[in-house]
Amino acid sequence: MCGIVAYIGPREAYPILIKGLHRLEYRGYDSAGVCLLHDELQIYKCKGKVSELELFIDGQDTSGTIGMAHTRWATHGEPNQVNAHPHYSMNKSLAIIHNGIIENYGTLRSELINRGYVFTSETDTEVLIHLIEDIKENEKVELEEAVRIALNQVIGAYAIVVLSKENPDMIIAARKGSPMVIGIGKDEFFVASDATPIVEYTNNVVFMNDEEIAIIERNKELIIKTIRNKTTTPYIQKLELSLTSLEKGGFDHFMLKEIYEQPRSIRDSMRGRLHLEQGIISLGGIREYEQKLINARRIIITACGTSWHAGLVGEYLLEDLARIPVEVEYSSEFRYRNPIISEEDIVIAISQSGETADTLAAIELAKSKGATVLGICNVVGSSIARATHAGIFTHAGPEIGVASTKAFTAQVIVLTLMALKIAMKKGTITQSRFFQILSELETIPEKVELTLKKNDEVKAIAKIYKDVRNFIYLGRGYNFPVALEGALKLKEISYIHAEGYPAAEMKHGPIALIDAQMPVVVIATRRGTYEKVISNIQEVRARKGKIIAIINEGDEAVKKLADHFIEIPETEEFLVPLIATIPLQLLSYHIAVMRRCNVDQPRNLAKSVTVE
Ligand code: F6R
Repeated sequence: MCGIVAYIGPREAYPILIKGLHRLEYRGYDSAGVCLLHDELQIYKCKGKVSELELFIDGQDTSGTIGMAHTRWATHGEPNQVNAHPHYSMNKSLAIIHNGIIENYGTLRSELINRGYVFTSETDTEVLIHLIEDIKENEKVELEEAVRIALNQVIGAYAIVVLSKENPDMIIAARKGSPMVIGIGKDEFFVASDATPIVEYTNNVVFMNDEEIAIIERNKELIIKTIRNKTTTPYIQKLELSLTSLEKGGFDHFMLKEIYEQPRSIRDSMRGRLHLEQGIISLGGIREYEQKLINARRIIITACGTSWHAGLVGEYLLEDLARIPVEVEYSSEFRYRNPIISEEDIVIAISQSGETADTLAAIELAKSKGATVLGICNVVGSSIARATHAGIFTHAGPEIGVASTKAFTAQVIVLTLMALKIAMKKGTITQSRFFQILSELETIPEKVELTLKKNDEVKAIAKIYKDVRNFIYLGRGYNFPVALEGALKLKEISYIHAEGYPAAEMKHGPIALIDAQMPVVVIATRRGTYEKVISNIQEVRARKGKIIAIINEGDEAVKKLADHFIEIPETEEFLVPLIATIPLQLLSYHIAVMRRCNVDQPRNLAKSVTVE
């Protein structure tokens, strides 16, 4: 949450900063601001999106070859101009941008007020810059040392960049709990919350570690120290991120582009792992832990939001195929409820961004209890990818739309490969069944492609229901997580209230909501509990609810019962989530567009939830 970008080098900083902010806007868009350093620290900031900041700055002096910029997701203090970043220190000789939360800001603030500091904003960030100024002035230390001493007094999470009028050729950056990447170009440096603002200029990057401070000076080598004052050697990595993957590529929204990318992203997530001809699945990232997985007495999956839904599919897969008991935990609950974890447990953390604060904390908790922690992550170099003992990357490519789409299907594919691999090794499925499943897996990208062709039909349904106030989504077995995911997609981007429910649970409460105004999306694919789901559809019909059914091709029985239906290709029961999710993603997309909602940047949300 919150996007940070900074630049120092021979070029004009402003265009690089603005472009960087646009790339990072998915991290928060409550307010935005820029600080340019040429003689003075010049700050421009306003409420709203980066485009509003550009209008606000239009015509002003934006010269300078060093600067920093911020796009905010508000935590402390409402989204307005005063609370927008950057923030000055009291004498205006320093400025800061910050991503994270300073938990002890109240105490620090009171102490600083007692020492005569005056606060202009309600943010926790302003506390930090006043503290740095206070240390610098009173202890007569250099900027980097003042930052280091201040950070030792801070409890909480931060990624910060500090500029000083007295050090016009220097950027100080530091992180703990919030991500930070440094790009190293020829005679220039870039700092950002992720690599997207950097990739255009250089692919040499350093992913900073927690409690590290970077001292970045014009025409000098990068220096990294810990907040305990120990110098470390920067580990320079090559970025594998293409610029085109960060553009909309002719689509109206990133979300739509990402929905349509799924045949490719599913294929990429299987590539090099599924070898149909040899009849093997190889998962290099977790090879060392294969035996441990085979012997596992229990697996705990931890994640948030859509990744949690993928985890739920994972539970069914691992129990069904590999016969290992699985618990799926919301990271935010798991981390605070003293869970029973032992060294024999395997914890799988799932995260698209790899930066979700609660999931990161759950990982640390599991590690502290001796568990083996494996990650399923989309972003290489992210905090979660680095915090886990080993893991598998989903090769979904950058997901920029705030609503997760292609990351979900990629996570499910990776979980499927994992479950199948363990099942085969454990002998819980036969070899012939294994081969049969591998061949079916190979057809999934094509089946997703065929499902995407139903776009116009989905759009027509969206038109009918775009103005309703509530939706119910029902599914059973593997389709229950699909129902949850369908409901989440709808509420987050269209602001229509939606509930996902196990179809049979409906009669224990939600059935009271059903009347002629209630659209009920039912995932009613053949196999599994198909017959039971038909009974659930009848129950909805009896109360005049409107049925939108996701069915397999040619299912005349459900067609007769439904008000609307979308046909999808048939597949193995446990692979259905990969296909059935697609029309639900499209449905929420079209409804949101028709309601004139900001699909890629829904209100109050951010892509990377780095605060708890
Ligand atoms: C929903 C969505 C969120 C994320 C959740 C976890 O569309 O995007 O619910 O799934 O914030 O994020 P990651 O997967 O990055 O840990």
